[in-house]
Amino acid sequence: MTNDRAVGIHDLSFRTGSLVLTHAELSKHTGASVAKYHKGLGQQAMSLPAADEDIVTMAADAAAPIIERHGTDRICTLLFATETSIDQSKAAGVYVHSLLNLPSNIRVVELKQACYGATAALQFAAALVQREPEQQVLVLASDIACYDLDSPGEATQGAAAVAMLVSVDPSLVEINTPSGLYTHDVMDFWRPNYRATALVNGKKSMAAYLAAVEGAWHDYQAREGLSIEKIRTVCYHQPFTRMAFKAHRHLLDTAGVEADATATDHAIAPTTHYNEIIGNSYTASLYLALASLLDAEDELDAETLGFFSYGSGSVAEFFTGRVVPGYRAQLRTTAHLEAISRRRDIDYNAYRRVHTQPLPDDGSQHRLPHQTQGSFRLSGMEDHQRIYEAVHVSADIACSKGTHRRLTPTV
Ligand code: COA
Repeated sequence: MTNDRAVGIHDLSFRTGSLVLTHAELSKHTGASVAKYHKGLGQQAMSLPAADEDIVTMAADAAAPIIERHGTDRICTLLFATETSIDQSKAAGVYVHSLLNLPSNIRVVELKQACYGATAALQFAAALVQREPEQQVLVLASDIACYDLDSPGEATQGAAAVAMLVSVDPSLVEINTPSGLYTHDVMDFWRPNYRATALVNGKKSMAAYLAAVEGAWHDYQAREGLSIEKIRTVCYHQPFTRMAFKAHRHLLDTAGVEADATATDHAIAPTTHYNEIIGNSYTASLYLALASLLDAEDELDAETLGFFSYGSGSVAEFFTGRVVPGYRAQLRTTAHLEAISRRRDIDYNAYRRVHTQPLPDDGSQHRLPHQTQGSFRLSGMEDHQRIYEAVHVSADIACSKGTHRRLTPTV
């Protein structure tokens, strides 16, 4: 049975790694000026996972408050998007399913296409819900962006997970059709199975990203999408936040609108608060931009937002969503700010030690220290298996009731 009811994001929650390295600290050791990081890249700090955190623990942490608020009765599918997968066979979402005590009558699957994966998951979820309106889909996007030490990509690392509940009659954002689509085979960023860190041609990836903006927008227009004037602002994938400003200028150019620098900055800045202090979180990045915008802006009722999702390699999508009037009552601003401010500040030497924390690959027993600030942890490995445990049940279902929020906790 299909339905005519709106489908979209009913709830959204995110969590990040428990450690943080500031770009001010990084710059003291890399020789780059701090202005390059703060202004040139638009990054203030980056989250890093503690020894007992990974994509599963962050995703479970992000999803737990959603389960507490909505229960599990209507969830039929869990889609886990990541490009930092921990297993070639088993979906990371199955571990989350177990940690959250979800019922057995749920399908769980993992999706991959670089940073684009969560958008594929969101669209697949919307189609499933459209087909069976009584069902809900839990979409998880969780990644740890990790580049080689002393490489240009080093300043654009980060770690976070976003959880979204997709349903009919959503409380936050209705997802519209059509989508503008774009795929182009390009080696701008990739990670062969034998590598822990990604390989990237940074400048090529920026050019590929901008080409994808153009391609996806042209396709969106060819499918009779909205004109640019009808779109209040655009949430972009943000490998570093300046990329979103560059992309928006490029989109306006492509759409034939004269790009006024001040207006562009005004439109895009509210989408960048979280990413500039968390760093790149690959699949989660675009949806952190949405969280930032919703948490920061009071007056989005019934506004149309654009979304641009880019995954290197490359696949991209442009689509729009309508903000549901009354969305503010559902937000989790307080919990989001708390997840950011509880991170432990580490210095450069500690960062180098935690940058690559290899787990044993010989099947030996290995215990990990309790470092996470979150509710779930990777306690160790044994017989080539990851062992997870719940630290305590999250009681974090706080809603923001204020009208003015400061989304820039000091880092
Ligand atoms: N004050 C202000 N801005 C400064 C500066 C200073 N002192 N010094 C440099 N900058 C600016 C540069 O002009 C440049 O801005 P521009 O692109 O608008 O010209 C920006 O800071 C970055 O400097 P650049 O020398 O180009 O950095 P880099 O060679 O270290 O590479 C990336 C930057 C993003 C390519 C690199 O971090 C990377 O490879 N990241 C991973 C891949 C990625 O994120 N790709 C994006 C698409 S998915």
